[in-house]
Amino acid sequence: MKEKKLTFKSVSATETINFGERLGRLLAPGDVIALVGELGAGKTAMVKGIAQGLCVKDKRAVKSPTFSLVHKYEGRIPLYHFDAYRLKDAQEMLDIGSDEIVYGNGVSIIEWADKVTECLPETYLKITIIVISGNERNIEVCSYGMRYDTIMRFIEGGLT
Ligand SMILES: Nc1ncnc2c1ncn2[C@@H]1O[C@H](COP(=O)(O)OP(=O)(O)OP(=O)(O)O)[C@@H](O)[C@H]1O
Ligand SMILES: [Mg+2]
Repeated sequence: MKEKKLTFKSVSATETINFGERLGRLLAPGDVIALVGELGAGKTAMVKGIAQGLCVKDKRAVKSPTFSLVHKYEGRIPLYHFDAYRLKDAQEMLDIGSDEIVYGNGVSIIEWADKVTECLPETYLKITIIVISGNERNIEVCSYGMRYDTIMRFIEGGLT
């Protein structure tokens, strides 16, 4: 599978949230987003934006699931927010039944997806947030599969 990659710049948390919101508007049932980036890179900020784009009403509820592995938010489509940071390995995520969610009809977003690559489907959108300095971030978007190539074309065209 040949992947496509685009890089964007963000200079504030708000800009990252706005990017997420525009992406969130494009998402459909079953879509999977893998989020990668160091501590404090802005992964949860991105999830907040995506949640807004999915019309999740209670935006304050969007924070990293600390004590549970996954949070569910009600929106235009149910949003499942995983955080794999505290997991030992992918098996631990599979054991709690991630397949049922990831291959289900909601939208799944997985923070620290690089720790649990075995839990990802064959096709997904990967977003890597790279800290450049201070508030500056590079947002690398990479598509794996035709569904996500389509999303990439929207993103390339300035989203919607
Ligand atoms: N351009 C930016 N994009 C996103 N967040 C930014 C940016 N500039 C500064 N920040 C700040 O960086 C922090 C990002 O925190 P956030 O919880 O989103 O990171 P995270 O990647 O989810 O971290 P963790 O790995 O701990 O879950 C926030 O305090 C946010 O205000
Ligand atoms: Mg986080």
